[in-house]
Amino acid sequence: MTDSARPEHLPRHGAPALALGHAELPDEAATAALADAIAPALAAGSIIFLCGELGAGKTSFARSLLRALGYQGRVKSPTFTLVELYNLSRFELYHFDFYRFTHEEEWLNAGFDELIGSSAAVSLIEWPERAGEGLPAPDLTVRLRYRDDRSTGRSAQLEAFSAPGVACLNAACAAGCCSLG
Ligand SMILES: Nc1ncnc2c1ncn2[C@@H]1O[C@H](COP(=O)(O)OP(=O)(O)OP(=O)(O)O)[C@@H](O)[C@H]1O
Ligand SMILES: [Mg+2]
Repeated sequence: MTDSARPEHLPRHGAPALALGHAELPDEAATAALADAIAPALAAGSIIFLCGELGAGKTSFARSLLRALGYQGRVKSPTFTLVELYNLSRFELYHFDFYRFTHEEEWLNAGFDELIGSSAAVSLIEWPERAGEGLPAPDLTVRLRYRDDRSTGRSAQLEAFSAPGVACLNAACAAGCCSLG
């Protein structure tokens, strides 16, 4: 989907973030708590970019988010399938992983432009950088980083680019999982 095909209120590429947040995630439970806090605020149609190097915790975050949204089955990493679909009570959720893409147009060739940003679904996208600028801009970016205590320590930077993204960020802050700025 091109930016021009997206509804007016959705974010544009390169637009500055409307709000920023920071979360310290000393262990996996803290990452799960962040996902738990965001889940109730997540709106159908939202796009979340999950960024961070290999093993940073993108799939762990997605798994916790799915659990918090009521999914009880096994959450597989989509590294090899490229996308996993979940039929949840509130919306469908597409969990993408573009790690294996070597060309920016591969997500289009795979037909994913039909899915990403659809108003009835949430899209979680790991390795969105691999799809380049053609990908619709996100409502929220969660950027996971290793901390010095590399075995379990992570931190996350959250950037909200739309009102639905800000709602997620505010929910995380209200739960004490994140601080603004
Ligand atoms: N604070 C933490 N938050 C999330 N995961 C953590 C944390 N501490 C340790 N881990 C571990 O780090 C690993 C994260 O793996 P995960 O598959 O989620 O990473 P990923 O970012 O999706 O990697 P990839 O780029 O390969 O898809 C898991 O083994 C998880 O148990
Ligand atoms: Mg992953």
